[in-house]
Amino acid sequence: MQDPHIVFRALGLGPGDTFLDAGCGLGEYALKAARIVGPMGMVHAFDVTPGCIEDLSDLARARGLSQVHAAVADITRPLPVPDASVTVGLLGTVLHIPPVTRAMKAVIMEIRRVLRPGGRLGVIECNPYSPCGPPQSMRLTATRVTDALEACGFRSCSVQDMGYLYLAMYQKPSS
Ligand SMILES: C[S@@+](CC[C@H](N)C(=O)[O-])C[C@H]1O[C@@H](n2cnc3c(N)ncnc32)[C@H](O)[C@@H]1O
Repeated sequence: MQDPHIVFRALGLGPGDTFLDAGCGLGEYALKAARIVGPMGMVHAFDVTPGCIEDLSDLARARGLSQVHAAVADITRPLPVPDASVTVGLLGTVLHIPPVTRAMKAVIMEIRRVLRPGGRLGVIECNPYSPCGPPQSMRLTATRVTDALEACGFRSCSVQDMGYLYLAMYQKPSS
């Protein structure tokens, strides 16, 4: 997990918000988000790996975070989330995974469907120059991610260098 202060400041998540962690892994961001949105908010956390979802569900239960809704789901497929219900989404080091990259347009359009007008999406990926991380052939530059998001109607807001990763922020237009 990157410095949560940097990530959540950029995401702009607040109390009562609905957060989507798509490809959540063990759910470190989802758990941090649950504390921020509080009991009046909601966190959807999806991952294709059942073990991640079991561990995250156990942790959320043990910490009394009933606002965390974790489920096994393939983010290249339609998500069990109502239209225009999410305030902030996160794709944390998942877009570069080849089956997800191949379905990038469908993944982005599905996130666009579930985001509220004006909702924000953060994409975290590995910088091309980082000495560690996925093979170079799998890495996605911020320019490539931005081109894909803009082609799906998102507005590019910022790209923040976080060392070996970057965080790119996008917004779904209000109208
Ligand atoms: C590098 S981990 C990142 C986990 C977390 N987002 C983070 O930043 O700490 C990538 C995660 O994406 C998940 N994943 C890969 N393909 C997926 C798919 N099609 N749908 C949902 N999750 C997927 C993997 O199971 C893994 O947990």
